[in-house]
Amino acid sequence: MGLNYPATASDYRHLAQRRLPRFLFDYIDGGAGDELTLAANVADFAAVRLRQRVLVDVDRIDTAATLAGEACAMPLALAPVGMAGMFARRGEAQAVRAANAARVPYTLSTVGICPLAEVAAASHAPFWFQLYMIRDREVIAALLERAWSVGCRTLVFTVDLPLPGMRHRDTRNGVPARGARAAMLKARQLLVRPGWIWNVALRGRPLRFGNLVEQVRDASDLRAFWAWVNAQFDASVTWRDIAWVRERWKGKLLIKGILDVEDARAAVESGADGIVVSNHGGRQLDSVASSIAKLPAIAQAVGGKTDVLLDGGVRSGTDIFKALALGARGVLIGRAWVWALAGAGESGLRDLLDTLRRELVLAMTLAGVTRIADIDARHLDRN
Ligand code: GLV
Repeated sequence: MGLNYPATASDYRHLAQRRLPRFLFDYIDGGAGDELTLAANVADFAAVRLRQRVLVDVDRIDTAATLAGEACAMPLALAPVGMAGMFARRGEAQAVRAANAARVPYTLSTVGICPLAEVAAASHAPFWFQLYMIRDREVIAALLERAWSVGCRTLVFTVDLPLPGMRHRDTRNGVPARGARAAMLKARQLLVRPGWIWNVALRGRPLRFGNLVEQVRDASDLRAFWAWVNAQFDASVTWRDIAWVRERWKGKLLIKGILDVEDARAAVESGADGIVVSNHGGRQLDSVASSIAKLPAIAQAVGGKTDVLLDGGVRSGTDIFKALALGARGVLIGRAWVWALAGAGESGLRDLLDTLRRELVLAMTLAGVTRIADIDARHLDRN
């Protein structure tokens, strides 16, 4: 396949695979268990059928949307992805610039490489900040304060990682292993990617978790990352702790990782401004349903009371349209943006975002709908 001119998220995935050391590509590409949920996220989007309508006046298509109270060029945000700075040089700063150019929100992960201040300096628009419940509540309070002080006004609170999923690809790559054999394997994978070593490992330093430099010394190997996650992610968190966060965060609060109607209702009661229907990109409990399959019931239950966003399996602008038709207000993309950034840098991500927007315009045009707010179940072909 000629990949000089990548067109789709899948093309960027191939480029990323050629550029990244295997253990890094597998970390971002892979899911939990047998990757059944990961596959279902994509397959269930593919199975949705749309209605084509003709001879409707579609001369002026407007993809403008509002997410977490913010005006965006389309109903899409970049999902938080840990360690983006390992996939591209100072990856978080590149990503926020591409998101700015596309006028969509960017979400910085707690475990990003670039710190809040560096991303804020790269960005000319407010961006979102993602947080996990960390055992040390003082760390949380300090992060919230730092995020607010650099202008973040939307907090994406991830609730589906009390324990990391079983990522077998990581195990096969020796990521959790110690000793010479694992070091040899890693060295072999690195040796065949000199471009990555030069561009990212050397010129992209320091490879630390920029927001957690006092907590984790070195992010350059995935083991340090998981050691910190295992030690610090708090599995005793309940809705009461969300109330604690709610009290401390004056901005918008989105709860990410909802897959059940009852949890969606609880999120609304907790005072969240929105939810992200998500199975963490199929990276947590393998065999849960795809997020697009769970969306309609959740949107029906709470869509009138809160902003319902979705991630998991969104690979095209047509998928954005499908998610909206099934009840979402907007979507987040995760792997797709990292593939583009890793495969073709900031301009690759800009091009991908432009493609997604043009695909959304095309879907709206041929479905006969000119405004985002008018996309609904009538545009689904249920025959
Ligand atoms: C962390 O959130 C991961 O999914 O690896």
